Amino acid sequence: MTVNIITIDGPSGSGKGTLAAKLAAHYQYHLLDSGALYRLLGLSLHNQDLLEKLDSELTKCAEIATNLDIKFVTTGAGIQVLLDGEDVTQTIRTEHVGEFASKVAVIPELRAALLARQHAFAQAPGLVADGRDMATAIFPEAQAKIYLTASAQSRAQRRVNQLQGMGLDVKINDILANIEARDKRDMERAIAPLKPATDAYIIDSSELSIDEVFKLMTNFVDKQLLVN
Ligand code: DC
Repeated sequence: MTVNIITIDGPSGSGKGTLAAKLAAHYQYHLLDSGALYRLLGLSLHNQDLLEKLDSELTKCAEIATNLDIKFVTTGAGIQVLLDGEDVTQTIRTEHVGEFASKVAVIPELRAALLARQHAFAQAPGLVADGRDMATAIFPEAQAKIYLTASAQSRAQRRVNQLQGMGLDVKINDILANIEARDKRDMERAIAPLKPATDAYIIDSSELSIDEVFKLMTNFVDKQLLVN
């Protein structure tokens, strides 16, 4: 049986997470938030004091990546994320853990260790895969590839709203600087850099509402699933 795969790649704060969840609910597909895997690995390595020893303890870190004890539990309020049985849903969304993830994401051996885990999400009837390299590296066979972007300024403003909603005190300039630094690291890294697949549908969401982006996406996906 064919498993339909929709990939959504793009920079941090482009709205990928929200839209991927909406698409998964709309098509009743599974959902892979690959950024969460990198965040969980970053947090786990940090908790074990290994984040500063990624080079010298690489074999051990890759083993931890392969065996990471994580669960995504669907609840009425959304998806709850467990690491070693502990609820880390909120913790992994902090800027701090985003930085941990970004360090982990530049190590080829750690990316390779997360590969099988990501492929395992591709189950019938379909999958919406959200990340940086979903179309270019993990699911090049995907029927519908979307690249969602937005200006750094509008992404920073959205992230500020999101973090303030979680009760955190944040400054837009700090967030903007973080976003620009992370973009640079994601786009310039040697392995699986952030870039649109050659056959991706590119959407700039800077001036669009979530509903407007959702409509563009479903129009595109419906067409792609018909022809494939
Ligand atoms: O999308 P996010 O902010 O949750 O991603 C966290 C970090 O993980 C970010 O620095 C990019 C990295 N990442 C990656 O390298 N590849 C992916 N498929 C997803 C995320």
